[in-house]
Amino acid sequence: MELRIVEFPNPVLRRATKPVTVFDAALKTFVDEMTVIMKDDDGVGIAAPQVGVSKKIAVVCIENERYVLINPKILSAEGEQSGEEGCLSFPGIFGEIKRAARVVVECQDETGAKRRHEVEGFTARAFQHEIEHLDGKLLIDHFSPIKRELIRKRLVKRNNER
Ligand code: CO
Repeated sequence: MELRIVEFPNPVLRRATKPVTVFDAALKTFVDEMTVIMKDDDGVGIAAPQVGVSKKIAVVCIENERYVLINPKILSAEGEQSGEEGCLSFPGIFGEIKRAARVVVECQDETGAKRRHEVEGFTARAFQHEIEHLDGKLLIDHFSPIKRELIRKRLVKRNNER
């Protein structure tokens, strides 16, 4: 299956995702393909809805470390950080977003093994962004209503012109 990045306002980005229950070779292949398409687009994180799949799967790659976040839960979030953020589903859109500075996340990896990650800074930012995708929450939900509407119009126009 050839994966493609889904862009806003495609409704799949808002759809609820289902937990992963089968950890097989197809899942590993899917995670690897998500990783490739993310890197091809110079991203540091990607969530399954961004390739049109409504499952609780996300990948974050930072400094040669790959975190596979399957069925992730944020156990704790502490502190605050502010920084510029973008999203593969919002090409050319960036904005300053407040996030927790540190998070502890429990999840499974692509083999089904339970994993616990304690991350901070930029990695914590990417984790929070990708986990929000699994709940249908998006980058622009953090922006002001005016900025959100401007971006929505711009991207709808862009999609209609294709
Ligand atoms: Co994103």
